[in-house]
Amino acid sequence: MAREFARVGVVGLGTMGAGIVEVFAKGGIEVVAVEVTEAAATHGRETIESSTARAVSRGKLAEDDRTALLERVRVTTDMGELADVALVVEAVPERLELKTEVFAALDKVCAPETIFASNTSSLSITELSVRTQRPSKVVGMHFFNPAPVQPLVELVRTVVTEPDVVDDVRALAESLGKSPVVCGDRAGFIANQLLFTYLNQAVGMFESHYAGREDLDAAMRFGCGYPMGPLALMDLIGLDTAYEILEEMYRQSRNQRHAPAPVLKQMITAGLLGRKTGRGFYTYA
Ligand code: CAA
Repeated sequence: MAREFARVGVVGLGTMGAGIVEVFAKGGIEVVAVEVTEAAATHGRETIESSTARAVSRGKLAEDDRTALLERVRVTTDMGELADVALVVEAVPERLELKTEVFAALDKVCAPETIFASNTSSLSITELSVRTQRPSKVVGMHFFNPAPVQPLVELVRTVVTEPDVVDDVRALAESLGKSPVVCGDRAGFIANQLLFTYLNQAVGMFESHYAGREDLDAAMRFGCGYPMGPLALMDLIGLDTAYEILEEMYRQSRNQRHAPAPVLKQMITAGLLGRKTGRGFYTYA
């Protein structure tokens, strides 16, 4: 019999985590959202409040539904509150050591049947799974930015993931109005393997002064119908996140096309991470 997901957990309330909480709560699911500090928890809550306010102002959500959605979200710094959730989605920063620490901690507090999902974009789900006592109940559940808007969810299965775990998480994603796809465990999964090769090449063109940022972005928007050009999209994703994804793809593939364009590292060092720091390829108010 298929699992019920009446209550789930999300660990990490950054851009992706906060969006994922919103998706679950909008779908009528109770969410326990865990952050490490009170300040981060407050910031995460504010992100959800402002995103849902925006959805109301754009006519995507009724005010009453927003109130009910927010009531389904419990933000806490106590991981112990995840003891009886059916599924936990980990959405902490893209560093293997940090993610493995989170999974080890979750393993101690969660019931043995709780499914662990990682929102990682590039790290190995297999690697994360073997750091737990429940490798067969670990999957990738990779949402796209902005999570409340983008329908895609990549479900990543490993060689030991139980098929019914994948089936049930897929059914859950569909019930949330998402369009899940299933793939194996390789850095970048489906969409990022294709997307980041292209984004990295666009950054290379910018770096070599082959074309300016507006022209690069206009070419893809007006020539190919993309909603955003590659450099504006890099700013949305975050240059630090994009760099980590490319590095991991390069580490696994040794394909030069995945070697991060050098200017990315320079911009990161200078604090130009994109929208989240107010400046990346573009400047934001
Ligand atoms: N809930 C529901 N709907 C919402 C919402 C919310 N919280 N917030 C916004 N929306 C809706 C808006 O109402 C709007 O809908 P309509 O067009 O029907 O009015 C729509 O979402 C777009 O919102 P905006 O009008 O505010 O913004 P926009 O039109 O400028 O679009 C964008 C912004 C959605 C980001 C769009 O430019 C886009 O899709 N860009 C491409 C994003 C992309 O490629 N993402 C993938 C990144 S890669 C990744 O995420 C993987 C990884 O691992 C890093």
